[in-house]
Amino acid sequence: MFICFEGIDGSGKSTHLNYFIQKLKLKYANSISTREPGGTSTGEQLRVLLLHHDLSVESQIMLAFASRQIHIQQVIQPALDDNKWVISDRFVDSTYAYQGYGKKGNIDFIDNLHKIVCNSLYPDLTILFDIDPIVACQRRQNREISVLDNFEKKSLDFHQDVRNGYLKIAKHNQAQGHKYIIINADDSIENIQKQLDEIIFNILGSQN
Ligand code: TMP
Repeated sequence: MFICFEGIDGSGKSTHLNYFIQKLKLKYANSISTREPGGTSTGEQLRVLLLHHDLSVESQIMLAFASRQIHIQQVIQPALDDNKWVISDRFVDSTYAYQGYGKKGNIDFIDNLHKIVCNSLYPDLTILFDIDPIVACQRRQNREISVLDNFEKKSLDFHQDVRNGYLKIAKHNQAQGHKYIIINADDSIENIQKQLDEIIFNILGSQN
């Protein structure tokens, strides 16, 4: 089972992923968490280039896919082959949302790289943490981190485009029969955790 968490910066998805993996491991020990860009030592080096260097959108797309291919080959596919649950903080939809919808990169280029470089691997379930970029921006400003990456520094309009992109991607994938759950990331932590508990319960139940 391959599950991805997606959302704009400041949506809280990484915190919720930590909760999800801890709860999941109590019921299904055979689970790992990982992230993109990154997830491997080479991928983490590519992450620094993508997040902290001034690059064209095409270079960003190619770096994201270089990191992704290594991630699939070294971590994701071996774990799936071993019947593990893989929970990834971001995957290909981040490239569609940020480089495609946010930076207006060529969607066909992303589609082609996804086919050629990733053999069209797509999550069994995606959980999108949806939030108004104004609220997300306030959350980011309240964080103690002083070094923002290239995407966190971008304008509200950019994050609005990324959010709208994610909502389009979700709709498109739901129409294609993919499991794509949208969670209101502005809801209380308790309510969000309850929804995550239900997701784990439902998937584990349906596997028995
Ligand atoms: P994170 O801090 O949530 O891991 O996000 C890393 C940043 O990288 C986030 O701003 C989104 C960006 N990103 C892309 O622009 N393209 C991609 O393909 C991926 C995976 C992430």
